[in-house]
Amino acid sequence: MRVFTGIQPSGDLHIGNYFGSIKAMVDSQAENEVFAFIANYHAMTTVQDGRRLSELTMQAATDFLALGIDPEKSTFWVQSDVKEVLELYWFLSSFTPMGLLERAHSYKDKVAKGISANHSLFAYPVLMAADILLYDVDVVPVGKDQIQHVEIARDIAIRFNNAYGDILKLPEFRVDENVATVPGIDGQKMSKSYGNTINIFGDEKAQLKTIKKIVTEAVPMEEPKEWRGCNVYNIAKLFLDEDECLALQERYERGGEGHGHFKLYLAEVIWEHFRPYREKRAYYEAHQDEVRDILKAGAAKASEAAREIMEKVRSVTGAAY
Ligand code: TYM
Repeated sequence: MRVFTGIQPSGDLHIGNYFGSIKAMVDSQAENEVFAFIANYHAMTTVQDGRRLSELTMQAATDFLALGIDPEKSTFWVQSDVKEVLELYWFLSSFTPMGLLERAHSYKDKVAKGISANHSLFAYPVLMAADILLYDVDVVPVGKDQIQHVEIARDIAIRFNNAYGDILKLPEFRVDENVATVPGIDGQKMSKSYGNTINIFGDEKAQLKTIKKIVTEAVPMEEPKEWRGCNVYNIAKLFLDEDECLALQERYERGGEGHGHFKLYLAEVIWEHFRPYREKRAYYEAHQDEVRDILKAGAAKASEAAREIMEKVRSVTGAAY
């Protein structure tokens, strides 16, 4: 089975990205063919400083490798290194009703917040459809926020296939309900654009400072606390096994500890969880040329798959004459 994902290099990767997507991709590698890429074209909708975008692209690639994407087993590349994606994007545009894009949450939410939209934000789901449909993908593991985008890709593929025959494979999304929406430090969905993220790789002190800002109920130290619905607990449980969750619940219910204690515990749990990955990250950080070589080799593999589909697309649409 071919499993597929993309991540925008629009800032530091956070634990929402990790549980919503990266972990599923890394775990899939044992039994599946994994295709994962850095969506730098998508990030251009928000990052419009060239040097910054190239730095963020290398940073995201370094993080992804450190977290366990294995370039020997999987195909890992940067979106802009496979030119065919922009070609397919255009072919798909003719099968994308305006209404479909007008209903896209990502666009509607930004407009509702008063952000003036440019064409690339509006057309974002078409490029994402091109990403997915270019590689004969079976499954796309995503967080809840990206489900609609995969549905739009399916919808566009159906319209294209109705016109030209069975050319594009319909992808399925896969969402792990336990991590469908990882909460941020304010309890809303964790997101770079809300400024409520806990980063995967950061300085220990900064990390602790962020965790101390997690919004909690004011309850006197001696009294029992409610773990259900508590932002600290909800983030901690992502990292804990069943016994550890029960032990933490007991600490809440016993009283005698404040939320400050639970926050310190959470900071420690997160720091320890990513320790081995930090070591691997330090290696790749010191060997950026190796990272570039991995990305170029990945792009060559991805291009091969892309060329196969594009040949069919050019042929059936009459672009090849
Ligand atoms: P992006 O970069 O915003 O997020 C990458 C992945 O992380 C997931 N995610 C979350 N999951 C749970 N809780 C959260 N708080 C949370 N925040 C982020 C996202 O659901 C996503 O799976 N448009 C995509 C990038 C993309 C893509 C693709 C993904 C471009 N082309 C093709 C899949 C297939 C995006 O902006 O993800």
